[in-house]
Amino acid sequence: MSLIYKGQNLFIDNTSIKSVVKKNITPFYVYSYKKMRANYQTFSSYFKKVKPLICFSVKSNSNVSLIKELGRLGSGADVVSEGELMKALKAKIKPSKIVFSGVGKTETELKVAIQKRVLLINIESESEARLIDKLSRKMKRTTSIGIRINPGVDANTLSKISTGKIDSKFGLPKSNFLRFCRNFGKYKNLKIKAVSVHIGSQIRSVDPYRKTLNVLSKIIKSSQINFEYIDLGGGFGIPYQNNEKKIDIKNYSKLVNKFKKELNCKIIFEPGRFIVGNAGTLISKIVFIKKNGNKSFIILDAGMNDFMRPALYNAKHDIVPVLKLKKKINGKVEFVGPICESTDTFVKYKNFSLLNENDLVAITNVGAYGSSLSSNYNTRPLAAEVIVKKGKIKIIRRRQKISEII
Ligand code: LLP
Repeated sequence: MSLIYKGQNLFIDNTSIKSVVKKNITPFYVYSYKKMRANYQTFSSYFKKVKPLICFSVKSNSNVSLIKELGRLGSGADVVSEGELMKALKAKIKPSKIVFSGVGKTETELKVAIQKRVLLINIESESEARLIDKLSRKMKRTTSIGIRINPGVDANTLSKISTGKIDSKFGLPKSNFLRFCRNFGKYKNLKIKAVSVHIGSQIRSVDPYRKTLNVLSKIIKSSQINFEYIDLGGGFGIPYQNNEKKIDIKNYSKLVNKFKKELNCKIIFEPGRFIVGNAGTLISKIVFIKKNGNKSFIILDAGMNDFMRPALYNAKHDIVPVLKLKKKINGKVEFVGPICESTDTFVKYKNFSLLNENDLVAITNVGAYGSSLSSNYNTRPLAAEVIVKKGKIKIIRRRQKISEII
């Protein structure tokens, strides 16, 4: 995490949260450029032998300035909608570094992707291949595609973010993949360039990845096609709590080195969470504190519309005070949002340092699937986003105005 205490005060890198708050209305997201860059560089150094194309998964954080910063570090983009594609282009990511994934791309979206000549459209059904072929013919283009395989591997992660099992909606099952490869000649306006796979998110062990590489290696050999690229997707998990262990990417990279040699292909990755997850924090102000029974409810001005992961996946994100006092609150505390739903709750503690109404707190590790999953539920405006880079505080999305929602 990029958060540290200096004395009693919380800092993001060398910038005090208090100074960021002066310029912003809570709740707002604040990102550490330094952390994001370090994550990107750590990720590429793990895989330096295979020199992969790293396509940042835009769904994890779709702030254009942030994507632009990653682009400057060398990243491409993994997009799943016309909106994400337009954002990636606006962030100056070259189409030759963009892969387009998703099970239900519409005709309009596909036309844009074909017209922009993205590196790959990763297809997830034969119907999609037929449609891209037809559109490409009309547009007098040859379109490069990847085929997403459903490897039938359990990623051992939260069931709601697991995508590689045989009964999930994603990709082509192995037998359909082989049939597709055999009949590929009929698609005159498609170039088959890649195989892609993505088995889930927040994966914390190498084992599911190892299984996936084995499946891919076998099936690619039986297809007898030389794929130029193998897109191994994202999914790299991060520790959300202090005691959680990290995924051993180094170990995985050794398997990927061997895999690349064996198949003689270029490698693509689509990491999201690993790059931005621990680089973001949501700063929120305490509206009220009330005691029901023996529990203190700390009601924040951030709700499930601002940050959805706890409500949606029971995800646990620690909350820390912006000013840490030695004194403790008596008894249990629960941090909740202001929204009229009982799932609008963040985290519970047995005890916590003393807080008062109007104090500030930080919800940690929210850089991935934080702002990108936020909504206008309860007609609440989208929160601002701020980046701290080399001691400078820059607003990279201003807070939405209520008039813009109405
Ligand atoms: N590639 C594809 C095709 C994906 O579907 C995803 C994520 C990624 C890459 C990036 O995965 P990552 O490296 O970030 O794990 N909202 C959930 C996570 C959903 C992930 C969906 N797909 C959460 O908050 O945990």
